[in-house]
Amino acid sequence: MIEEKNRIIDNFGRPHTYLRISLTDRCNLRCFYCMPEDGIELMEKSNIMTLEEIIALARTFRDLGVDTIRLTGGEPLVRKNFGYLVEELAKLGVTLKITTNGITLDKYLDLFKKIGLRKINISLDTLDKAKSVFITKRDYFDRIMKNIETALEMGMEVKLNIVLIKGVNDNEINDFIALTKYKNLTVKFIEFMPFKGNKWDWSKGVSEQEILDTVSKRFGKVEALKNPKHSTSTNFTVKGHIGNFAVVSTITNPFCADCNRIRVTADGKMMNCLFANSETDLLTPFRNGEQMDNIIINGIKTKKFSRDGMDVKMDADHYEKNRSMISIGG
Ligand code: 5AD
Ligand code: SF4
Repeated sequence: MIEEKNRIIDNFGRPHTYLRISLTDRCNLRCFYCMPEDGIELMEKSNIMTLEEIIALARTFRDLGVDTIRLTGGEPLVRKNFGYLVEELAKLGVTLKITTNGITLDKYLDLFKKIGLRKINISLDTLDKAKSVFITKRDYFDRIMKNIETALEMGMEVKLNIVLIKGVNDNEINDFIALTKYKNLTVKFIEFMPFKGNKWDWSKGVSEQEILDTVSKRFGKVEALKNPKHSTSTNFTVKGHIGNFAVVSTITNPFCADCNRIRVTADGKMMNCLFANSETDLLTPFRNGEQMDNIIINGIKTKKFSRDGMDVKMDADHYEKNRSMISIGG
């Protein structure tokens, strides 16, 4: 049992046990809500954590009580020697998860099975090929769909991440729900969130309530499922469907009270919140051979209760100072 004083506990008494590590700020897609239109200035290679640094930091977090690690990006699978990294991380004995765009998933499914990584979130905003090209500015739709099928056949726990945007894919809500009739997967609708450079405007967003209304109009009553502790989504199913659906209502109904998440960016900065403006540099002290435990334990003390202080409403002055999503990793 890890002693209280050696755990990552914020000023609201919340122990942080779930770490998201961004492996790279590069991606083989260009989703407009994630990547600013003029691109981003990519991180300098020497500022990016090496694989050994990622493994060592992950071990430190594990020793401070982290029991779940999700790998994100950019696109985590484009990181060089990803296979080696994930195998080493699996040895830490934490639950490993990944969020990917699915393009090169087929290369890693056997390895995932071998090391026990089963929980895979795949970003898929549309079931329409032409629209997929419009959203991602690349043409990988068929490959992604095939990889989703293969992952399901191999018994992976698949969730599809769908960022809903009015006039783009809000007319597909029920097509996604229809998928859950015969497929054992979860479709997760995410309220459109503001990040630096993504021209956010909530009038383009679709709220949890609108989603539920749309689904029940077509499929009848939806059943609420029990939400696991610390869940950031509200979970539902349509009667008679094998799969489930979920809503991440960051904008209309933030779920921060029970937050247990911390993030480390590819350049080794600890972020206490998806919307955090301030960061704790971990990589520099790590490279200087400093003892990391206290830096992490103190770093969490600046965490705000909800959405980095945007408790009431999203505030452009705040989130425009933030990173763009591509360099946070969700
Ligand atoms: N709002 C909501 N979700 C977003 N994602 C990326 N950008 C945004 C945004 N602006 C989601 C993607 C991806 C996950 C890592 O974050 O769907 O699956
Ligand atoms: Fe790449 Fe994911 Fe961002 Fe799309 S949402 S550009 S797949 S990192």
